[in-house]
Amino acid sequence: MTAAAVTAGLVAACGGAGSPEHSAASQDGSALYASSCASCHGSDLRGTDEGPSHLSIVYEPNHHGDDSFRSAIRNGAGQHHWNFGDMEPIDGLDDTEIDAIIAFVRSEQEREGFESYPP
Ligand code: HEC
Repeated sequence: MTAAAVTAGLVAACGGAGSPEHSAASQDGSALYASSCASCHGSDLRGTDEGPSHLSIVYEPNHHGDDSFRSAIRNGAGQHHWNFGDMEPIDGLDDTEIDAIIAFVRSEQEREGFESYPP
């Protein structure tokens, strides 16, 4: 097999990983959340000294919809609900990865329930 054929095989395999299947997406989302968001928002989503809990009722889907998650990742978010400072944009995530992160957050919100605001 030539090097080109090997590369093509790898690309095909990666394309398959982006399947819209829900449980697969929230699986990837958990790892992506851990590497990209947990340093501030906590690996259990409950926040850290650097950022707020995503289980706060503030982040329920009708108040912070999926587009506000996309916007926060792409553009950052100015401090307005808390006193942690601004959130900087998070680089290096494509649309599929962002959707997986949002799916993970929504499934955890559903599973854990919401915290009151202010905490
Ligand atoms: C370096 C710290 C840091 C990281 C990393 C981080 N955030 Fe944030 N994030 C913050 C802070 C601080 C706020 C609170 C801003 C405020 O006062 O409302 C915030 C707010 C948000 C908001 C609310 C935005 C709004 O419109 O009010 C969303 C959604 C969010 N973060 C999602 C994420 C996701 C998803 C990731 C990972 C891809 C992530 N954040 C990574 C610090 C961080």
